[in-house]
Formats: sequence, structure tokens, C-alpha cells
Amino acid sequence: MPFDRIFLDELSARNDIVEVVSQYVQLKKSGMNYFGLCPFHNEKTASFSVSPDKQIFHCFGCGAGGGVLTFVMKAEGLTFPDAVHFLAARAGIPVPAQGEADRQAARQRERLYALCKDAARFYYDTLWQPQSRAAQQYFLSRGLHRRTMNRFGLGYAPDSFHALLDAMTAKGYTREELQQAGLVSKSEKGHLYDRFRGRAMFPIIDVRGNVIAFGGRVLDDSKPKYLNSPETPIFHKSRNLFALNLSKTTKSDYFILAEGYMDVIALHQAGFDSAVASLGTALTEEQARIIARHTGRIVISYDADGAGQSAAQRAIDILKKCDLQVKVLKIPGAKDPDEFIKAKGADAFRNLIERSEDHNAYRLEQIAAKYDLEDDEARVLFLRDAARMLAGIDSSIEREVYAGRAAKMAGVTPEAMGVEVRREQNIRRKKRRAAERREIRSPIGLAQPKDRSLAYTDIRSAKAEENVLRLLFSDQKLIAGMETALPPVWFSAPVLRKIYERVLSLDRDGQIVDILSFEGWLEPNEMSLLSGILEPGLPPGEHRQELAEYIDTIRMQRIKDGTLTKAGEDPLLTFGRIKKTKRGRTMI
Ligand code: GTP
Ligand code: MN
Repeated sequence: MPFDRIFLDELSARNDIVEVVSQYVQLKKSGMNYFGLCPFHNEKTASFSVSPDKQIFHCFGCGAGGGVLTFVMKAEGLTFPDAVHFLAARAGIPVPAQGEADRQAARQRERLYALCKDAARFYYDTLWQPQSRAAQQYFLSRGLHRRTMNRFGLGYAPDSFHALLDAMTAKGYTREELQQAGLVSKSEKGHLYDRFRGRAMFPIIDVRGNVIAFGGRVLDDSKPKYLNSPETPIFHKSRNLFALNLSKTTKSDYFILAEGYMDVIALHQAGFDSAVASLGTALTEEQARIIARHTGRIVISYDADGAGQSAAQRAIDILKKCDLQVKVLKIPGAKDPDEFIKAKGADAFRNLIERSEDHNAYRLEQIAAKYDLEDDEARVLFLRDAARMLAGIDSSIEREVYAGRAAKMAGVTPEAMGVEVRREQNIRRKKRRAAERREIRSPIGLAQPKDRSLAYTDIRSAKAEENVLRLLFSDQKLIAGMETALPPVWFSAPVLRKIYERVLSLDRDGQIVDILSFEGWLEPNEMSLLSGILEPGLPPGEHRQELAEYIDTIRMQRIKDGTLTKAGEDPLLTFGRIKKTKRGRTMI
């Protein structure tokens, strides 16, 4: 953290969260907490709470939350350092000179950029050596031209535990830098080894042209198919898009959003130079905002399978929030854009783009496909279903247009359809209010994080992980011995593991573990999740016993999913891996 903790303590002591929030929100005391209308989403019932003793805010409606600095960042639209200056000015205290810390962080980032570039160069050189013929063959067999491979800087990571490590340390990079860049991993015994081994390498390049991370694909059918760099000081998955560095200069007035590296590369090779992909996860709001900075129109071109189609539905919602005109392309007779282009060619794909439908039409069609519209009873059901979807369209003009279309599809009058849509709008309104009330009554909220990009793959484990964090935050004495009792790799939820690892390292360094030590360090969505976890607080009780039970639950889940054997020894974890399944794939 670039700011000195002593200064931050003073800053937060002089800016009580209740006082600061009160300047934006009318708060009313109820029990231990204060409540008001959330300034970050529209609501009529107060689900926004501020806890004076924990110095956090949390909204049970939209999930936003954090400490006083996060609040100011959100309310004033400031970066973390600007929020610090804002609150310092409010309290009339000087911000200590921290130019040196800034310069140091900038120097570190420059080193990591240089390292990633050299690593990309190393993988590239390796690919074109005679002993890497299999990798060359792999790319060629997937229909890539040499020019395309160069354009994307594709490479090959040799099947060795130390080839990159040796090459980069010889160039003067430290082992620590290699670790920070996510290029090597550490075994349980403390040995460093190359993260990417025997993989086709796809450099991930930011919009300014810096190599910031890698994706690596196996050459055969082994698992995991793809391995990506972890989050690093220069790589934030949720804030980058694959190939944006190339697509940003396109002449096309629309972007194409695909799922995979190979799809994007095949699209570019076929002349669609505005294709990008979110990096192996669900599209995030940040990525959507970045896209909206470059274009007003986007064509979603996801995999044809069910998973791809439901991912498309979610992407529509996220992209619409950024006022993008969204179309959805359907790929007949092929798994994904890459395979379609390979089978049918670029012109056929251009045809698909031209025929791609507005997202509302796409949705209506997805719904219609479920019913036999010749059948009267099924038609009634279709109308209900369609009205439910139409009721969710914000623009009244769009709603009207597509209600008309749905009416035609079902052979009823637009007026009849209109009545049905208004009925559904009312139901939605009532449901939303009821949900708001319900969530307030159950403070832990829904089992899944509000932000879908943080979704838990193992709810039971993740809930225990949350509870462990809640306990450790409430009583720092409990942290002693945790590293061995509960190794971080046992965590199923990456975001919770990230928090847990920082808890351990703060405690190791004799630092305080509280929300303040996470402000500006966690992403806003992660901060919201953390505030939601901490909000309920703890009743007095035997916390050590509780902690042991949660650890046990997590351990049992790891035995169940095969990461741990009953005896406790653990072949996978020695490589620092944890197996999870997402959309039916093995992920790492
Ligand atoms: P190919 O088999 O190479 O054509 O892959 P694809 O690009 O068609 O992959 P798929 O549709 O299976 O997955 C889409 C994207 O999800 C990939 O490009 C990766 O970014 C990501 N992905 C797929 N499998 C994995 C995995 O096992 N681990 C991780 N971390 N990401 C994956
Ligand atoms: Mn594919």
C-alpha cells in the first residue's frame, strides 16, 4: 500500500464513517447500525447500512460496501489516492509526501512489463526452434498462418520446470520479480518452477502494447486445457480484453465479442480485425465499459453450446448497461467462430454478422423456440414468457416494438400483448420490493456474491471460507497457526483466498487486520463482497471451536472434490493447484 498505515489510521480516525456518509445520505439509527437509502442504486426502502464500530458500510440491496475510503471513491468517483487526499482535506490534515513510494511502485511495474516482454520473446524464440516442431505443427494444424502467429506473438513454453526461470534470471530478473509477474510458482517446499510448461502460449497485451500476462494451451486433450497468468500488479483480468491492442485501431464500426483466444485469432486472420475476448471468464462490467469507449455497437459471437448461449444472455445485460447496441450472432453447424470460419470461410461469417439479430429479437426467438406456436395452450405460455422478458426492457419504445413482434409471433393483438406486459411489470416491481425486504431480514444475504464474476463454485466451502474470514477479522489472535491449519490453497473461492492470504501476510508482518488495510488494495467488487461478509459481525461465543468446525468443513470439501486424500497427503497441492470445475471444464 503506497500510504503509510499510521497516516491512514489517523485519516480514518478523523473521518468517522457515519459522519462522512451523513453528508450524502440521511441516516437513522436502528440497533447498533445506521440505515438509509442507498446512494448507489435506486431504492425506496432503506437497505443501506453503516456500522460505526466496524467502520464499514454495506448495502443489502445492491451489495456495494467497504470502508470510508471506498465510500468516498464511489460517491465522488475518485481513485484511491484521490479519495485519500479528499478525506485528508476534509479533516484538515496533510498527506505525507509519498512520491518515493509512488516512484518505487512505478519502477516495479516497469520491471514487470520488461520481464513479460522478455518472456514473450523467449516463448516466441522457443516456438521456432527445431525441437518445438510439435508446437509449430499444432498452430499450423489449427489453420493459423505464420503472419497471424507473429501478429499475435504466439509462442511455446518448453516442457521444463526451469527453462524460463533460467533464461530470465540470466537476463538479470530476480526470482521475486518472476513470481510477481506470475511466470513461476512456488512449491510447498519453497522451490520455484515455471508455471507454463509444454503449452502453446498466447501473450495478453494491454491497450498500450505492453505484454502483461499469458494464456497457455495444452497441445493435446489433457487438463486444464488453458492456464492463465494469475492477477499481478500489471495484470487485472477483469480490466483487460484479449486483442484490444489490435482491435482499437479497426475501421469497423462494431466490435465482435468472442469467448476464446483461438476464436479471436481466427477472426482477425479472416479479416475481422475488431474481435476481442474477455479473458476466459464471464464478461465484467469494467470490460464492457472499456468496449464502450471504443465502439457503440457490438456483436456477441459466443460458442453455440448451451453454456455459450447463457453466457451470451448475461453478456447482453452487462453490455446494455453501457448503452451499447447489442446484437447476437448464431453459429449454425459449428461449435464456435473459429470452427465455423475454418469450415465455411470468411464470407459465410460476414453473412452471419449481417444476419445477426438485435438482442431483444434474439431473446424473443430463444423463448419462442421453447413452444409450439401452433398449439393454443403453448401460445398462451409463450405470451407469458415473452411478456416477462419484455417487461425487463427499459426503453418504452423498444418495449413497444418488440411487444408488437411477439404479438405477431403468437397471433394476438398488440393491445392484448400490452396488457400482459404491464401485468408483468407490476409483478416485477412487487418482487423487487419483496426481495429487498427479505434481504434486509437475512443479513447474510444470498449465498452467491452479488457480482457474478466472483461466483462461488463450491457454496458450502465458500460459506465456511467466508466464516473463517469473519472470525479472523473479528479477533486477530485467532490468526496464529492458521497457515498450517488451513493452507490458502484449500480455499475454493479465488477472491476469498486472495483476502485470506493478505490476512496471513499482514499478521505475519505485525500489521493490523481490518477493512482499512484492504482499502485501495481490493477491487471495488471484491471490497463489496468483503463488507458483506464482515457486516453481520459475530455474537460472543467460543470462536476457536467455531473456527475449527469451518476448517473441517473446508477440508471435507477438498477431500470430496479430490484435491486432498483422506490421509492428508496431496499430490496436486504440492504444485500449488486446486481443482475446480466451471462450465464443465477443469480450471486452474
Ligand atoms: P480451443 O479448444 O483451443 O479452440 O479452445 P476455445 O478457445 O474454443 O475454448 P473454449 O470455448 O473451451 O473456452 C473459451 C475460453 O475459455 C478459452 O479461450 C480460455 O480463455 C477459457 N478456458 C477454456 N478452458 C479453460 C481452462 O481449462 N482453464 C482456464 N483458466 N480457462 C479456460
Ligand atoms: Mn475453439
